[in-house]
Amino acid sequence: MDFNIMLQAHRGFAYLILLAIAVFIVALLMTMFGYSGKISKFLRKSSLFTMIFFHTQAVIGLIMLFFFSPGFKAAKESGMLMKDSILRNTYVEHPTAMIIAAILLTIVNKKFKTNEKLNMSWVIMALIAVALVLWAFQWKRLFGG
Ligand code: HEM
Repeated sequence: MDFNIMLQAHRGFAYLILLAIAVFIVALLMTMFGYSGKISKFLRKSSLFTMIFFHTQAVIGLIMLFFFSPGFKAAKESGMLMKDSILRNTYVEHPTAMIIAAILLTIVNKKFKTNEKLNMSWVIMALIAVALVLWAFQWKRLFGG
């Protein structure tokens, strides 16, 4: 496996995850503001797919980080990893925040799967996960600017 293939796969999944998260938020809002607060099939499916894409992305990202990334290796060797804000964001903050978000989404997905009614604490957990993703997302690297 070559670094560029992994990076392209990571980029591809990034678009998919943005889409999945948008659908997930719509499903969450529909359930929250629905009369019954009953967890719908739509919410269950959207949280499941978001979690599956996220886990795949985490595996690709971790393999890339520890085994392939020339940038991460160079940053470590030069001693600039934590000193340079861009390097720190890409190789430390991005992976850490995304892993925390993946854990939160996994918990939320489990709760939605095994319960009938929505609980506010799970909604907050889901919103924290989404906020972490939006903060740690590599917007500039994916969309330029
Ligand atoms: C969960 C654990 C994750 C890890 C460990 C991880 C790791 C990485 C690493 C190491 C890079 C830089 C690659 C390099 O230039 O050497 C990177 C870039 C990137 N990651 Fe992640 N990532 C994770 C999750 C995510 C998620 C969930 C998304 C999208 C929602 C995402 C989107 C991106 C994007 C768009 C880039 C920029 C790609 C580019 O510059 O071409 N990552 N990630």
